[in-house]
Amino acid sequence: MLSVKRSGRGIPLLFLHAFPLDQSMWDANRAALSKNFELITVDLPGFGGSSPLAGEPTLAAMAQEIVKTIDGIGLKDKFVIAGLSMGGYVLLQLLQQIPDRFRAVAFVSTRSAADTDAARENRFKNIDLVQKEGLKALADKSVPALVGKTSLQKDPSIGARVHASIEAQKPEGVVNALRAMAARSDTTSVLSQINVPALVVAGAEDVIIPSAEMEAMAHKIPTAEFNLMPEAGHLLNIEQPRLFEELFLKFLKRRVL
Ligand code: MLT
Repeated sequence: MLSVKRSGRGIPLLFLHAFPLDQSMWDANRAALSKNFELITVDLPGFGGSSPLAGEPTLAAMAQEIVKTIDGIGLKDKFVIAGLSMGGYVLLQLLQQIPDRFRAVAFVSTRSAADTDAARENRFKNIDLVQKEGLKALADKSVPALVGKTSLQKDPSIGARVHASIEAQKPEGVVNALRAMAARSDTTSVLSQINVPALVVAGAEDVIIPSAEMEAMAHKIPTAEFNLMPEAGHLLNIEQPRLFEELFLKFLKRRVL
């Protein structure tokens, strides 16, 4: 069972976090999202308070842990699910494992394509970096890509918080997730099967997943609407929490309630 946090009452919203962070990345949005809904966040295997997976780390295995966890907390109703980046990769696995459990889906700063050879090579370099130099070195390298350039300039505390969260993770969990992401296959064929309301959100300054790629992803989902957040990078919910909450809640009001 994964470490879970639940707040508020109403239609359940399950939020899946990015790499290499944990569920605390949703703390910035917790009050607004749990006002009229039940916000459920989890630490993916090996992150935050959740133990690393035993055996070969895969995104499918991560998704299976989520299924065990939602069954464990007795979540029977259909729920809204949102995944940011790695959380989105896991969401694409869940769409294959439990396709009938969702009321709506949201893909944030994520993609359905597998790693390119260069991206995979970079994962193995990062595994080496974590094993030889530790998480501080990975945080130094990752923060300038995870946080958009406007946010880094306007509010350096955002970068500092993300840095501290990366340093607080378990090296084993981070290495497992890098292996799992490197091994993932393309899940683009899942997109055309989605038949519940879908939201796709991209940051205009995301250097990890270009907004044009996310827009193309939205075109492959029959039910999707695409939103571009200006002056936001990859971790757009932390960078511009009010704007993110506003567009998410508007989507729920229009398409789910
Ligand atoms: C994330 O934010 O989860 C990562 O950028 C995903 C990745 O490394 O592909």
